[in-house]
Amino acid sequence: MNLIIEIKLKTLKIAIVGFGVIGRGFVSVLKAKHGFIKKNFDVDLKISAICEVNGSIVDEKGINPDSVLKLDSKRLDRHNNWTSMKSPDIIERIDSGVILEVTPGNIKTGEPGLSHIKTALKNGRHVVTSNKAPIALKFSELKNLAERKNLKLMFEATVGGAIPLINLCRETLHINKIESIHGILNGTSNYVLTKMFEEGVNINSALKEAQELGIAESDPSYDINGIDTGVKIVILANSLMNRNVSFRDVKIKGITDITPEAVDIAKKHNYVIKLIGDAGKLEVSPRLIPVNNPLNVSGPLNAIMLHTDIAKNITVIGHGAGAEETASSLFSDVLYIAKDLH
Ligand SMILES: NC(=O)c1ccc[n+]([C@@H]2O[C@H](COP(=O)([O-])OP(=O)(O)OC[C@H]3O[C@@H](n4cnc5c(N)ncnc54)[C@H](OP(=O)(O)O)[C@@H]3O)[C@@H](O)[C@H]2O)c1
Repeated sequence: MNLIIEIKLKTLKIAIVGFGVIGRGFVSVLKAKHGFIKKNFDVDLKISAICEVNGSIVDEKGINPDSVLKLDSKRLDRHNNWTSMKSPDIIERIDSGVILEVTPGNIKTGEPGLSHIKTALKNGRHVVTSNKAPIALKFSELKNLAERKNLKLMFEATVGGAIPLINLCRETLHINKIESIHGILNGTSNYVLTKMFEEGVNINSALKEAQELGIAESDPSYDINGIDTGVKIVILANSLMNRNVSFRDVKIKGITDITPEAVDIAKKHNYVIKLIGDAGKLEVSPRLIPVNNPLNVSGPLNAIMLHTDIAKNITVIGHGAGAEETASSLFSDVLYIAKDLH
């Protein structure tokens, strides 16, 4: 007797909220990997909506990636399926299994992402986000809401860009107790400190070069003052170390006072100065790191060292930002959700 096993292709509809660097990166990776995902994960990922500030593109049958990638990010209104519906309505009313929340987050209010995530969960949609602010500010509230609704709230891309840190702890190191997490979580400040170490320049000229290369933003103050790292360690402490802390609990000192002379003295003693975020001690500060330590990564790379009770020390290194790099983490979250679809 021949046994024929039919594997039915599942469909997962995704509404993308925010079409900037990351939203566009996600669509571009979907275009490249759609066939691979279908074949290997038995799921057809479709984009049902893309929201921008003024309106959205909507097609519940699936938006063709090429049709949006060819448009300027600020001219999505030229798309045939453009509507004036804004993100809250899209999240509530348009058929989608996952809301991909990739708007910029206000670190004091968490908005607009916080409202987007709450609306998504209240309306039965899973959430995948790269937006740090709502997760750092309201982790336990959002986690409880997701659990009550039997939904997934996934946020791998909020810390360390492409580095699979949160999922590594959740899926692979799950019998371990995470005893400490510390490392380099901000590419801009690491680029600046690397330049100061390698070329003896001062912070302003290193920063200027980082801006010219598009590594640093036009206003890099959150990066070099340690705020961005502080927000990330709140996420790590709450999600991986069972803490219930807020940004106010973190002691923060950035790299603005680091002089070429200090970098040079460290160098003569075989040390580098790195901006280290420590989720156990809830501290962000410049620290002396031996040159041969795994945390001594250069340029805009991130490096995070975990200490656990069973596996002991593990260090992960990779790209902490970038459109495609960050999309890698977003896809790992989306496909984790797709695995449980019936
Ligand atoms: N870039 C990276 O490498 C990276 C890496 C990891 C995490 N992240 C995080 O990922 C998120 C997105 O980053 P990004 O670099 O893509 O930012 P971005 O380029 O500024 O794009 C965000 C987009 O969201 C739009 N937007 C703002 N408010 C909105 C609303 N209420 N409804 C719909 N769309 C809205 C913005 O439109 P307007 O420009 O018109 O305001 C913009 O087009 C941020 O939270 C960021 O911190 C970024």
